[in-house]
Amino acid sequence: MKTSVVIIGAGPSGLLLGHLLRASGVDCIVVERQSPDYVLGRIRAGVLEAVTTDLMERLGLDRRLRAEGMVEEGFNLATADHLIRIDILGLTGKHVTVYGQTEVTRDLMDAAPTRDLTILYDAKDVALHDLDSDAPFVTFAKDGEPMRIDAQFVIGCDGFHGPSRKAIPASAVREFEREYPFGWLGILADVPPCHPELIYANTDRGFALASMRSATRSRYYVQVPRTNRIEDWSEERLWDELAERFDPISDHGVTRGPALEMSIAPLRSYVFETMRHGRLFLAGDSAHIVPPTGAKGLNLAASDVAYLSDALIAFFKHGDDAGLNGYQARALARIWKAERFSWYLTKLMHRFPEDGAFEHRMQTAELDYVAASRTMQTAIAENYVGLPL
Ligand code: FAD
Ligand code: DHB
Repeated sequence: MKTSVVIIGAGPSGLLLGHLLRASGVDCIVVERQSPDYVLGRIRAGVLEAVTTDLMERLGLDRRLRAEGMVEEGFNLATADHLIRIDILGLTGKHVTVYGQTEVTRDLMDAAPTRDLTILYDAKDVALHDLDSDAPFVTFAKDGEPMRIDAQFVIGCDGFHGPSRKAIPASAVREFEREYPFGWLGILADVPPCHPELIYANTDRGFALASMRSATRSRYYVQVPRTNRIEDWSEERLWDELAERFDPISDHGVTRGPALEMSIAPLRSYVFETMRHGRLFLAGDSAHIVPPTGAKGLNLAASDVAYLSDALIAFFKHGDDAGLNGYQARALARIWKAERFSWYLTKLMHRFPEDGAFEHRMQTAELDYVAASRTMQTAIAENYVGLPL
């Protein structure tokens, strides 16, 4: 097969990029290792910045998002006994939208046939070739048959564990990493949220987040040691922890119900600065990971794709390669600021096992300062709604 752009990965970044290219008449094919059901079964991000909702609007695929998404005009930072409300609308004039990554992915998947976007699911052993040449290609196996797609560009949208980043030679690699000594244990359940707005809480039992998907569906997370496995947790034990942390500070207290999903995600900060190598470009989690505190992961994937789609469209429509040449620097400028904010909120809101009483006093002092300072609250709100493109 032959196309202009082959995109590896049908997560949010690959699907958004594929749709944006097709909407401008650029040929592309998306190649995904998993099945559609597997991709939709992954429960991840929930908070969308305008960068993400604007792209869905530009594609004309925002009907369900506008109807079902929840407009959030504020959120809360909390200690064990009080809330600090960050009035994001009042401080920035903007809001965020609560609409699950699963739903964004579903909307993009469902629209693919009518928008003439080809997605090849269940592609095994994807490998990238001749990235230094003008004629790169990708090979894989589908239904046991070997396949090859020749293209002018290969785009790695294949997440943290995909093959694209690994195809870049060690001599070209510039990467930065920080692992955290904990993960987030998440639960999704059809119960009403404990509070009308999100709460990020720093309690003596560790960090916890109360989030939601709708008025009848809640999403919660608690900080757990990095060594914990999902088998270490029963639903009952997790609901007990959530009640301990949120009953004292939330409007309604925690309502329990059967888990629709429970999983643990490790926390890390990671930036792979080599976002371009020859004819390969990286976007989204293949190039960077943020700890989820701050809800930046999916939104950063969207900003990468906004830059990269403009650059590819300018190349194919006008032969202009300035956007492609500037992509890495432009994307990294926004990525590093989101990395900083996610790292800052992670440090402020979690209990680090190596920290002592002094560090804890520093967190308390900073939260006290935030509670009293409109300037600090504005800085947090500006970052939370998303920095400009
Ligand atoms: P992904 O969503 O990872 O998509 C990559 C796609 O590439 C996948 O469909 C994968 O199957 C495919 N792929 C991988 N390998 C291959 C291969 N060999 N061949 C072909 N295809 C391949 N962000 C938040 O803001 N809040 C959260 O609560 C949150 N929770 C998260 C929990 C987990 C467990 C993870 C992993 C991430 C979480 N994130 C969260 C981050 C957010 O979900 C990501 O930033 C977002 O999914 C990035 O989108 P992406 O398309 O770049 O990558
Ligand atoms: C959700 C996830 C986050 O990482 C976050 O910061 C806020 C909300 C969620 O899944 O709802």
